[in-house]
Amino acid sequence: MNFQVEYEKLKGAFESRLERTVSDRVPSKLRESMNYSLLGGGKRLRPILYLSVLCSYGIVPRESDYLFASALECVHTYSLIHDDLPVMDNDDVRRGAPTNHKKYGEAVALLAGDALLTLAFELAGKCASSDPIYAEAAYVLACNAGGSGMVGGQAMEFTCGAYDEKTLTDISALKTGKLIEAAIVCGTISADRKENIGAWLEFSDSFGKAFQLCDDILDLDNGERSLAALLGKSNAEKYLCELTDRAVAALDRTDGNTEFLKELTKAVLLRATDGL
Ligand code: IPE
Ligand code: IPE
Ligand code: MG
Repeated sequence: MNFQVEYEKLKGAFESRLERTVSDRVPSKLRESMNYSLLGGGKRLRPILYLSVLCSYGIVPRESDYLFASALECVHTYSLIHDDLPVMDNDDVRRGAPTNHKKYGEAVALLAGDALLTLAFELAGKCASSDPIYAEAAYVLACNAGGSGMVGGQAMEFTCGAYDEKTLTDISALKTGKLIEAAIVCGTISADRKENIGAWLEFSDSFGKAFQLCDDILDLDNGERSLAALLGKSNAEKYLCELTDRAVAALDRTDGNTEFLKELTKAVLLRATDGL
């Protein structure tokens, strides 16, 4: 298996569907703003994780799986648009281009985020109406994206006051870990392999922690508050390697063919040192 070729193939298959996700009925400025962030690059990590869980059990993703994967990417994209707003992280650049509010203004950016979040559950609902197995996946996505998941983590970052190691770990487990967990758990549900959920949760726990740590290591020069900044670069890198090993080891317990996921895990998590 050539990892890079397989990754590009899966990403390409996903993106060709994603291009058709935002309806022509959406007013043009809002549609443009939604597509600007949805189609403007990114690793497509959460959809690829979801689809790779299915592939690990030899399942060829159905059109409804690509729809569900798009729902995950819509939630992720909305979270980035809102995260960059002046009232949040106040960032001007994302993926090397102006952030959504810099290009379309704050009102349109806020609404593009709202519309993408709503679209995610329109897509998940469409999947559930074609096959009831997706109803549970939609429920998991909602739980992990909301106040006790990703949004809760974002809120804690702005309100918790003390930023010790435990608090920073808890924040990243929610704000980043929960959507990654949703991708993996929903993949397990769609694959009808919930008997393997324990190993997948161990994988997602280590992967989620490592993913935020890696993002923070890459961001160290910006002087933002983070676990990587608290630990210092070399300890953070050591911990990142430990978490990556743990994630890879968990994959061996899933009872699937996880060669691709192992390569993906290493490529994504060690990009702070290697680059993807
Ligand atoms: C960035 O996520 C925000 C975090 C949750 C750390 P990604 O690194 O997955 O963003 P893109 O979509 O690839 O740009
Ligand atoms: C983003 O966290 C997490 C979410 C959007 C939920 P960060 O603020 O650490 O990520 P970047 O650095 O903006 O991508
Ligand atoms: Mg940010």
